[in-house]
Amino acid sequence: MDIVKGIRFISLICFLHSLSTTGGHVHYDYVGDFVHYLLKSVMSSPKINPLYPQSERIVEKSTHDFIVVGAGPTGSVIANRLTEIPNWSVLLLESGEEAHIISDVPFLCGAMEFTDYNWGYKSEPQQGFCRGCTGGRMELPSGNVLGGSSIINYMIYVRGNRVDYDRWAAKGNPGWSFDEVFPYFLKFEDAHISRSDEEYHHKGGFLTVSDVPYRTKAAKAYVKAAQEAGHAYTDYNGAQQLGVSYVQGTLRDGGRCSSEKAFLRPIRNRRNVKIQTGSRVEKILIDPQTKRAYGVKYSRRGRIHYAFARKEVIVTAGPLNSPQLLMLSGIGPQEHLQDLDIPVIQNLPVGITMYDHATYPGIVFRLNDSISFNDLATSLSNPSFYLEYMGGKGPITSLGGVEVMTYIRTNVSMDPEPSYPDMELFMIGGSINTDFGVIYRKIFNIPSEIYDKIWRPLEGQYVYSVLPMLVHPKSKGYIKLKSKNPYDAPKFFANYLSDPDNIDVKTFIAAIREVQKINANPAMQKYGSTLVDTPLPGCENEMFNTDRYWECCLRTLIGSLYHQVATCKMGPKSDPEAVVDPRLKVYGIKGLRVAGISVIPHPVTAHTVGPAYMIGEKAADIIKEDWKHEIRIMN
Ligand SMILES: Cc1cc2nc3c(=O)[nH]c(=O)nc-3n(C[C@H](O)[C@H](O)[C@H](O)COP(=O)(O)OP(=O)(O)OC[C@H]3O[C@@H](n4cnc5c(N)ncnc54)[C@H](O)[C@@H]3O)c2cc1C
Ligand SMILES: *[C@@H]1O[C@H](CO)[C@@H](O)[C@H](O)[C@H]1NC(C)=O
Ligand SMILES: *[C@@H]1O[C@H](CO)[C@@H](O)[C@H](O)[C@H]1NC(C)=O
Ligand SMILES: *[C@@H]1O[C@H](CO)[C@@H](O)[C@H](O)[C@H]1NC(C)=O
Repeated sequence: MDIVKGIRFISLICFLHSLSTTGGHVHYDYVGDFVHYLLKSVMSSPKINPLYPQSERIVEKSTHDFIVVGAGPTGSVIANRLTEIPNWSVLLLESGEEAHIISDVPFLCGAMEFTDYNWGYKSEPQQGFCRGCTGGRMELPSGNVLGGSSIINYMIYVRGNRVDYDRWAAKGNPGWSFDEVFPYFLKFEDAHISRSDEEYHHKGGFLTVSDVPYRTKAAKAYVKAAQEAGHAYTDYNGAQQLGVSYVQGTLRDGGRCSSEKAFLRPIRNRRNVKIQTGSRVEKILIDPQTKRAYGVKYSRRGRIHYAFARKEVIVTAGPLNSPQLLMLSGIGPQEHLQDLDIPVIQNLPVGITMYDHATYPGIVFRLNDSISFNDLATSLSNPSFYLEYMGGKGPITSLGGVEVMTYIRTNVSMDPEPSYPDMELFMIGGSINTDFGVIYRKIFNIPSEIYDKIWRPLEGQYVYSVLPMLVHPKSKGYIKLKSKNPYDAPKFFANYLSDPDNIDVKTFIAAIREVQKINANPAMQKYGSTLVDTPLPGCENEMFNTDRYWECCLRTLIGSLYHQVATCKMGPKSDPEAVVDPRLKVYGIKGLRVAGISVIPHPVTAHTVGPAYMIGEKAADIIKEDWKHEIRIMN
């Protein structure tokens, strides 16, 4: 760390320390703006010793075997695996820059959203949800940095359920059943988990997955209470997903293990890979006659460049930008492109489907003892916590407070598969008040009227919360371009809670009942744990804790967990929503594939970074297989 960064970092810590004493007095909007400003400037300062100096050496109109667009988890794996073949050259273009080392600190993960590492998208205001959110909009953060969203995510590692993959294959996508994708999950994993079903984990892969070294007493009590309520103590990435488990994280020695750290850093000096940051692809070059993709047009530091691909262009630009880039390049719904004056090369249903995982942040329990995170500022300003963190331990290794996962099947579920969860409940050893409304409040776009009523009175108190995540939403949204200008953010219509039978709302409510049931057990009651019953502003007219009350809450405050899938959906030719085939090839275009969570056909019972790595591994193998005639000649 150089001196300037060091000083900034220390001032940030001092500032956070002062928060712990003044938090109750200084208005959080000012405090928040200042913290965000400090973080932003620290994180965007230029690198004195960049890990990827090659980025600055641009070769005009260079030609490569493969061009990979976007260095998130999927793109990082693909660049790594393809350059195992010494004769293949890969250009990996990433719009964002190298991350600052502060992004390694797990406890700060929520704050990454307020740096330049986030594309900064928001959803369009819609009637059925987020009625109480600031501007009626949800934040839709997405990583714009080398490592993609794995630099700004919460590091929760979940593989997903066998049923997710078996149904993916059964929809006409050979090769994607659980038994076929499971070896890829094992391949990248280096697991260090105490409660683990051994045959479901692997040691020695690139990506470290481990327990969080620090657990609050509240988390331990909660795991016990969940067992008292009848949930088995399991390894959710093991034989059975239903049950309660401590969270498993993409953590290495107590710090973030991003896709940059896991897959790019070890290969950055390979002669056949060029990893180039700050390079934003504006368009895929496609010959309109032959319909073959032959390169990309990108901008770097305000200048336009071109690069060419002998074999393929692979789009791994994330779930929100991959569909945008395809549409800007003339691949998308014909009418929509024509309306925007974009010449149509291939009419495909890009962006017409977008499923996402929603969560409700307002289920908070008050505790009568010091067993959870008291406040973020105290945690961050205690010097002994830093010493512990240097040794890979202590509260700062917490995944932003996320500690325990419970997978349940509510009685609303009509799924024929008895072991298939319909809800995830994740327990946090704190709540929105833990950082005095500076970070988490903004993540959920909670306006002061709501914060001041519900959370401000809880500041400095011991609380915990449980956030239900709807794993298989019936409601689906879509993405449209705003214009043909690549620098205009697309429009995201999330359409949450809009399914005609209201199953999504009913499932949420059933989960909220289960959360209360778990809390009522002796292990939690030992700490006098009680549901905070201040009525949510906007829902005062409903009787507290009735189904109608909770439906009102869900429609007033809801947030995305950033797992948008199916925006470039995989499917057989007969699927009217399909953009890519089961080998990730874009229908109708040669030399072009899309990979990443954007291809997943339906919501999975997971947080999506695990599946993103798996798709990268599988994509690399598919590509090697498709070019095996050439690999054979080379050997
Ligand atoms: C705030 C947040 C928290 C999350 N928490 C978790 C979690 O705890 N656990 C979990 O499993 N998942 C989590 N996720 C989701 C998970 O991180 C993503 O699903 C995963 O990173 C997707 O991988 P990807 O490779 O498909 O795309 P991304 O990670 O989005 O990477 C795409 C990359 O492409 C680059 N790019 C985009 N457009 C262009 C362009 N035109 N030119 C050049 N480069 C471009 C982007 O800058 C980015 O680096 C979270 C996501 C967010 C945003
Ligand atoms: C589900 O359980 C709740 C009680 O926990 C009950 O009120 C409700 O009627 C049940 N719903 C169904 C569909 O069985
Ligand atoms: C918390 O509440 C429980 C249950 O009422 C009680 O047994 C316990 O002594 C209380 N603890 C403290 C520290 O007040
Ligand atoms: C592979 O690379 C080697 C050395 O760079 C070269 O001699 C050989 O011809 C290449 N083979 C093919 C098939 O491109």
